[in-house]
Amino acid sequence: MEVQFQNNSLLVSHQNKTFQLHPIWLRERLPGEDFFDIDTNQRLYEPSSINLDLQISHAELLDALLKVEFNDGIKGTFNIDELLREMDSDKNKRGPLPERILWNSELQNFPEAQFEEEMVEKESMYHLLMNFYKYGFVIIKNVPTEDKYLLKFVSSIGPVKVTNFGEYFDVKSKPNPNDLAYKPIALPPHTDNPYRKPAAPGIQFLHCLKNEVSGGFSTLVDGFAVAEYLRNKHTEAFESLTTTNLRYQFQDKDIVLENWGELIELDKEGDYKQVRYSTRVDYVPPLEPEKLKNFYQARKLLSELYCSAEFELKFKLQPGDIMMFDNHRLLHGRTAYDANEGMRHLQGCYLEFDATDGKLRHLARKFQ
Ligand code: OGA
Ligand code: ZN
Repeated sequence: MEVQFQNNSLLVSHQNKTFQLHPIWLRERLPGEDFFDIDTNQRLYEPSSINLDLQISHAELLDALLKVEFNDGIKGTFNIDELLREMDSDKNKRGPLPERILWNSELQNFPEAQFEEEMVEKESMYHLLMNFYKYGFVIIKNVPTEDKYLLKFVSSIGPVKVTNFGEYFDVKSKPNPNDLAYKPIALPPHTDNPYRKPAAPGIQFLHCLKNEVSGGFSTLVDGFAVAEYLRNKHTEAFESLTTTNLRYQFQDKDIVLENWGELIELDKEGDYKQVRYSTRVDYVPPLEPEKLKNFYQARKLLSELYCSAEFELKFKLQPGDIMMFDNHRLLHGRTAYDANEGMRHLQGCYLEFDATDGKLRHLARKFQ
C-alpha cells in the first residue's frame, strides 16, 4: 500500500489498484465527536451540505494514520486500514461473511454445532453462523426437546418470522391438513413458501422432537451447486431456468398468497441469489411453445439433479437436533414414513437473513 499527495490529489495504491480519494468522500468519514455521535457512531450533520469545491490541502501517512487537512481549515486523522477496507469492493460488501462452499453428496463432514445455554454471545455461535454461511446449513446437536424450545433458541438470534401459519409449525401427521407436509408421504426436494412477499422466508429451522419411525429421513440439496453444474454443462437449460418467471400460489380458507420468480434467480453480477422449487404450487405462464419446450426440458433435468444420488444428502434427524438451513439456497425434503410405527414430530420456524448477518458481523467484532 502506498499513499501519494500531489497537486491537491490524494492517491492510494492498494492491491494493484490506484484510488484517487475524493475530498468529499474523505470528509464525510472524518472521525471525531464533532462529526459522529460517540454512542451510536451515527453522523451528526448532513453530508450533502459539504462545500462541493472542498479540496485537500495537505495529507501525510504516519504508520497506519492518515493525517489530512482540508482547504477550509478543518483537519483530522483517519485509520488507513478502515479506508482500505472500503476500497476492497468484495470485503466492503461481504465484511466477515465467509465465501460459500458448494457441496454435493460427497460432503464428508456435516457442519455441526453443539448446543450450549446462552449460546448467542459465545464463540460457538460465531462458528455456527460461519458454517451456516459457508454450507447453507448446520445441524445443532443436543438441544432440549421441550415443546417450543425452538422459539427460545431462534429468538435469541433474532425475531422469529411470523407467517399466516403462526410463529411456528408442528410437522406431524394431522387429519385434514392444509399442507402436504402434514401427511406421512414423502416430500421431494423443495424450498418453502416461494409464494410469500417480498420473498420466501430466508432461513428455516426444523427441530426434531421425536423420530420413532423407520422412514422419515431428511434430505438436503445445495441448489447453488446444482445451478453451477447446469451453468457449466447445460447452458441452454441454465438460460431457460434463470430467465423464465413463474407464479407461485398458496391458498386455504383464509388467504391466497402469490409471488413470482425464476427457479434459479441470479443477481446483477450473475451470482446465485435464490432458488425456488415447489412443484405443487408453481405455474409457468403460457409462453411461446418453443420457450415452453425448452423450459420443460430444463425443468426435467433440474428435477432429476435435485433428486439424484450425486447431489442429495440423506440422513436421519435425531431427537434434539435442529437443522438450520438457507431456504434461498438449499432444497429440503423427507422420505415417506409409516405413522403406525410411532411418532415423528418436528417443530419448524423461520428467520430472516438480517438477523444472522447482523449477529455474525457483531460476533466477528469479538472473535475474528
Ligand atoms: C416442511 C418440510 C420436512 C420434514 O414441513 O416444510 O419440508 O422432515 N418438512 O418433515
Ligand atoms: Zn418444507
